[in-house]
This record gives sequence, structure tokens and C-alpha cells, in this order.
Amino acid sequence: VRAPYAACQRSIVSEVQDRYLVTEDTVVELGAGLGQLREWLPEKPTGRWLHTDPDASALREHQARFPEAAVKRCAGERISLPDGSAARIVALCVFDLLPDLHSALREVRRVLAPGGLVVHLLDMAPALEAIFLELAAEGLLALPNLFSDPSRQRFPEDLLVTELAPFQRLLERLAAMNHPLPHVFGHYFRAFAEKPFDAAGAVRVYDAFSRTAEMRELLKPMLASAYAAGYRLGIPPPQGTLVSSGRHFSERLAENAESAGFTIVENTVRAAFAHAPREPEASLYLGLALGHERRLDTVPEKLLCEAARIPGEGETLLEAAMHVFVARRTE
Ligand SMILES: C[S@@+](CC[C@H](N)C(=O)[O-])C[C@H]1O[C@@H](n2cnc3c(N)ncnc32)[C@H](O)[C@@H]1O
Repeated sequence: VRAPYAACQRSIVSEVQDRYLVTEDTVVELGAGLGQLREWLPEKPTGRWLHTDPDASALREHQARFPEAAVKRCAGERISLPDGSAARIVALCVFDLLPDLHSALREVRRVLAPGGLVVHLLDMAPALEAIFLELAAEGLLALPNLFSDPSRQRFPEDLLVTELAPFQRLLERLAAMNHPLPHVFGHYFRAFAEKPFDAAGAVRVYDAFSRTAEMRELLKPMLASAYAAGYRLGIPPPQGTLVSSGRHFSERLAENAESAGFTIVENTVRAAFAHAPREPEASLYLGLALGHERRLDTVPEKLLCEAARIPGEGETLLEAAMHVFVARRTE
């Protein structure tokens, strides 16, 4: 997914590097994985970089790709470095996965020197467990936003959140009518009502039916006809609210960072664009906003970068947007 957007991602990472990562001291990367951040960084970033990950096989691959890079096996919740030994702690698509973000940020604070920065980047969709847990606890259900373009907003509005109980009443009636929605997706709706709620299981099902165009195409008319049947039967389905899982993550991260002893320096979505020669049959426009991809034959009305130039003859316009979070360790 990331490959076509490398020029855009590099440009955002380079802005972040120049603004926040210039140091002669230690820079620790958490959850380095196979080395995507290393690949986007300038060839010789400033500072003494140490790439960490709890997964030994990912670190082996990281080392094979970047033999000169220093690596260490450890998790974000237990960084095997002394107190105050790092000037910067950096991660790409990691904090959204951590079940106890507050404890991890306390550990990050321990390892950072006073005044040091933690920098988290998120270019793909955030992990959904945390937001699903909150929704289920409030009697709500998340559906994918199939009815408008999620990327119209800087924080893509990817979820359609609706009340669970009225939806379940409708599903019971639809099941009696042999409507396909309860048969195909009933287990997902039921999962939100189960106690304890299996968030990881619900996310797996959500991913299976929302992340491929085919499944989205199957779900859309089924939902539309279920809503129409609800109105006909006199059990109008609840209206949904569009919610951004990216914005939810940014707020959760800011709250946890503040309570763990940080001051927020930046919490924004940054975007960059590039032009590439257009391959035969390729789209005129490719956009990737926190994991939401658009491949279009026209330039969308709402671009991720206001300054993006319309593609010329034989060109594709590429855009990518990334969540950038930076916080400073308070004294
Ligand atoms: C979504 S991948 C991101 C990898 C890489 N940063 C990237 O963006 O391509 C998440 C990474 O976090 C690592 N990870 C999982 N649990 C972690 C933890 N508790 N602390 C630090 N890293 C963790 C995984 O092994 C994996 O490499």
C-alpha cells in the first residue's frame, strides 16, 4: 500500500526530522519492524539511532536490510535503557497497538532526558481495538463509512457509529424475513452485544468486510435495503454519526501523554504531494490518508494538500497524509 507514496512519505518524514530530530545524542525507535522509518529517513540522519522491536525475526530482517543500523530487542513498555539516556524516542504506527498506552508513555518518559521529545507517526489506519472497546461499553456499534468519501476530512471519517439496541431489534425482524444482512453479518453485530466484548475478534471481522472493495460493495446495498425495510416495518434504524478513528487516536494519545508527564508540541495531520510519470492504464490521482486509499481517474474536489498542482499531460498526482504527534517531557 505504501510503495507508490514513498516520495510523499519521505517529504513528510524529512520535515519532521529537520524540525524535531536534529540531535547529536541517542534517538531510540520503538516498534521499528522491518525498517520502514529507516527507509524514509535521510541516508545519514543526525543522532545515534537505535532501532528496537520486541519481535526478533523483524529485527533480523531490519538488520539484513540496514546492516549499519544498531538494533536492540525490547518492547515499548520495557525499554532496556537507563533513565534519561535518550534525546528522542520515535515510532511509526506503534502506539495505536499498545493496550496500555499510559504505562508505555511513562516508560518512554523514564528513558527520555528532561526536555526530550517523543515523536509518533501514523500513516496507516490506526488499530481499532481501543475505539471499539469504548463504543461497545457505551452501547454503540461501528460500521464502515460506506456512504461518503472518508478522505474528505484531514482525519478520515472512516466509521459510522450507531446505537446497537435499535439496530438489533431491526436485525431480529430482518432475520425473520430472511433478509441477507443478519445472515452474513449477524455474528459481527452480536459480538458488540456480548459481555465481555471481544474487541480483537470484532476488529478481525470488521477488517474482513471493510478493507476490500468487494466486501464493501456487498455490504453497501445490504445495509441500504435493511434501512429501507426498517422504515417500511415501522422500526426506523438509528441515525449514524461519522467518526474518525484517526482523530480518536490523536485525542487518546494526547490525553495519555499529558497524564504521563508530557507537553504536547504537535498533534496534526501533515500531507505532501508528488507527481510521477503516468503508467498506461494507471489512475490520474492516487491518495493515501491514514490508510484510506483513493485511486481516481479525476482529481478529487478536496485534495489532501491545498498546494498540490493539478497533474500535467502524462502525469499522476500522488498525495499522502500522516498523523504527526510530538510531545516534550516536562521537567
Ligand atoms: C504495525 S507494525 C509497524 C512497524 C514499522 N514501524 C512500520 O511502520 O512499518 C507494529 C510494530 O510494533 C511492534 N510491537 C508490537 N508490540 C510492541 C510493543 N509492546 N512495544 C513496541 N513495539 C511493539 C511489532 O513487532 C511491529 O514491528
